[in-house]
Amino acid sequence: MTKSPTPARILVVGGAGYIGSVCARVLADAGCELVVLDDLSTGHRGAVPGELVVGDVRDRALLRSIFADRQFDAVMHFAAKSIVGRSVTEPLPCIDTNVSGSIALLTEMLEAGVRNLVFSSTCAIYGTPKALPLTEDHPFAPVSPYGESKAMVERILELSRQQHGLRVSCLRYFNAAGATPDGQLGEAHHPETHLIPLAIEAALGKRPPLKLFGTDYPTRDGTCVRDYVHVLDLADAHWRGLQRLLEGDPGKAYNVGTGVGTTVREVLEAVGEAVGTPVPYAEADRRDGDPAELWADPSLIRQELGWTPKRTNIRDMVGDATRWVRSPRY
Ligand code: UFG
Repeated sequence: MTKSPTPARILVVGGAGYIGSVCARVLADAGCELVVLDDLSTGHRGAVPGELVVGDVRDRALLRSIFADRQFDAVMHFAAKSIVGRSVTEPLPCIDTNVSGSIALLTEMLEAGVRNLVFSSTCAIYGTPKALPLTEDHPFAPVSPYGESKAMVERILELSRQQHGLRVSCLRYFNAAGATPDGQLGEAHHPETHLIPLAIEAALGKRPPLKLFGTDYPTRDGTCVRDYVHVLDLADAHWRGLQRLLEGDPGKAYNVGTGVGTTVREVLEAVGEAVGTPVPYAEADRRDGDPAELWADPSLIRQELGWTPKRTNIRDMVGDATRWVRSPRY
């Protein structure tokens, strides 16, 4: 990871969560001064490397006081309600946190003169792909309120770039996976909905057999294809996106995936190898809203930010995740 250029003062919103905490750690290791704001609704105090302010991203008075107390060079914004299925049954809380929260943060940061933002976006803004691999110019066509909320924020950020001189890197994550190899930080969602941790826990006997959602997709083995990207590679993308803004670039939206598609069955096989026991599973109906295949064309971020994912083998990602699930720190 290239980490030399600029240690900076960063507000990391949602920095106690899975991806936010790994990014915060990378920033702290690079010498950045951090303040983490997190309401700990899904994040963990023990995941935060430095100063933690516990609070809600929609709390304008709190945001104002944070920006009044300190000078920041940039904000990284991870805080969101990100469970896709819950966003379908409860769209308003998702939109409230993700959209209203982003508007509050954006308003207060601009008011305080902070113009650099790295924003966590998602491939869910594309919906069901019209063509693969997904490029950044694929139209926004989300099929869930979660994807809709992130698409809305990207549009708002674009307006703010045009009108208020915001510099913003929008990073459209594909499927975040893995844990830090030292076992310090990993995925700890309650409830857990993601394939890799669920499969590991099932193999370890910590939960009942996994439900494999859909075996009749038009893919090589009938199960969904996803682009899994190691959380440390995601963190490296944030670092690079940040540096570009600090150099004065207006920023851009980038896909952050490896460009490699892996089926659910292939993931289960890798988990079985990592744990040393096959994953017990039961075939189930398709889950609503799951596109058959999603994988990225990462050419733009490779060319423009020099991002090259280092941990692209699903076995490495699953190996790191397994170490974490065997002994989570929080
Ligand atoms: N899956 C199962 N059984 C499970 C859980 C998942 O078969 O118990 C399957 C899903 O159907 C899917 C694949 O495993 O085919 C991956 O599912 P995840 O829930 O781990 O991840 P998603 O692809 O649904 O979601 C991810 C991110 C979201 C983002 C979405 C974009 O977690 O934030 O990609 O499609 F919105």
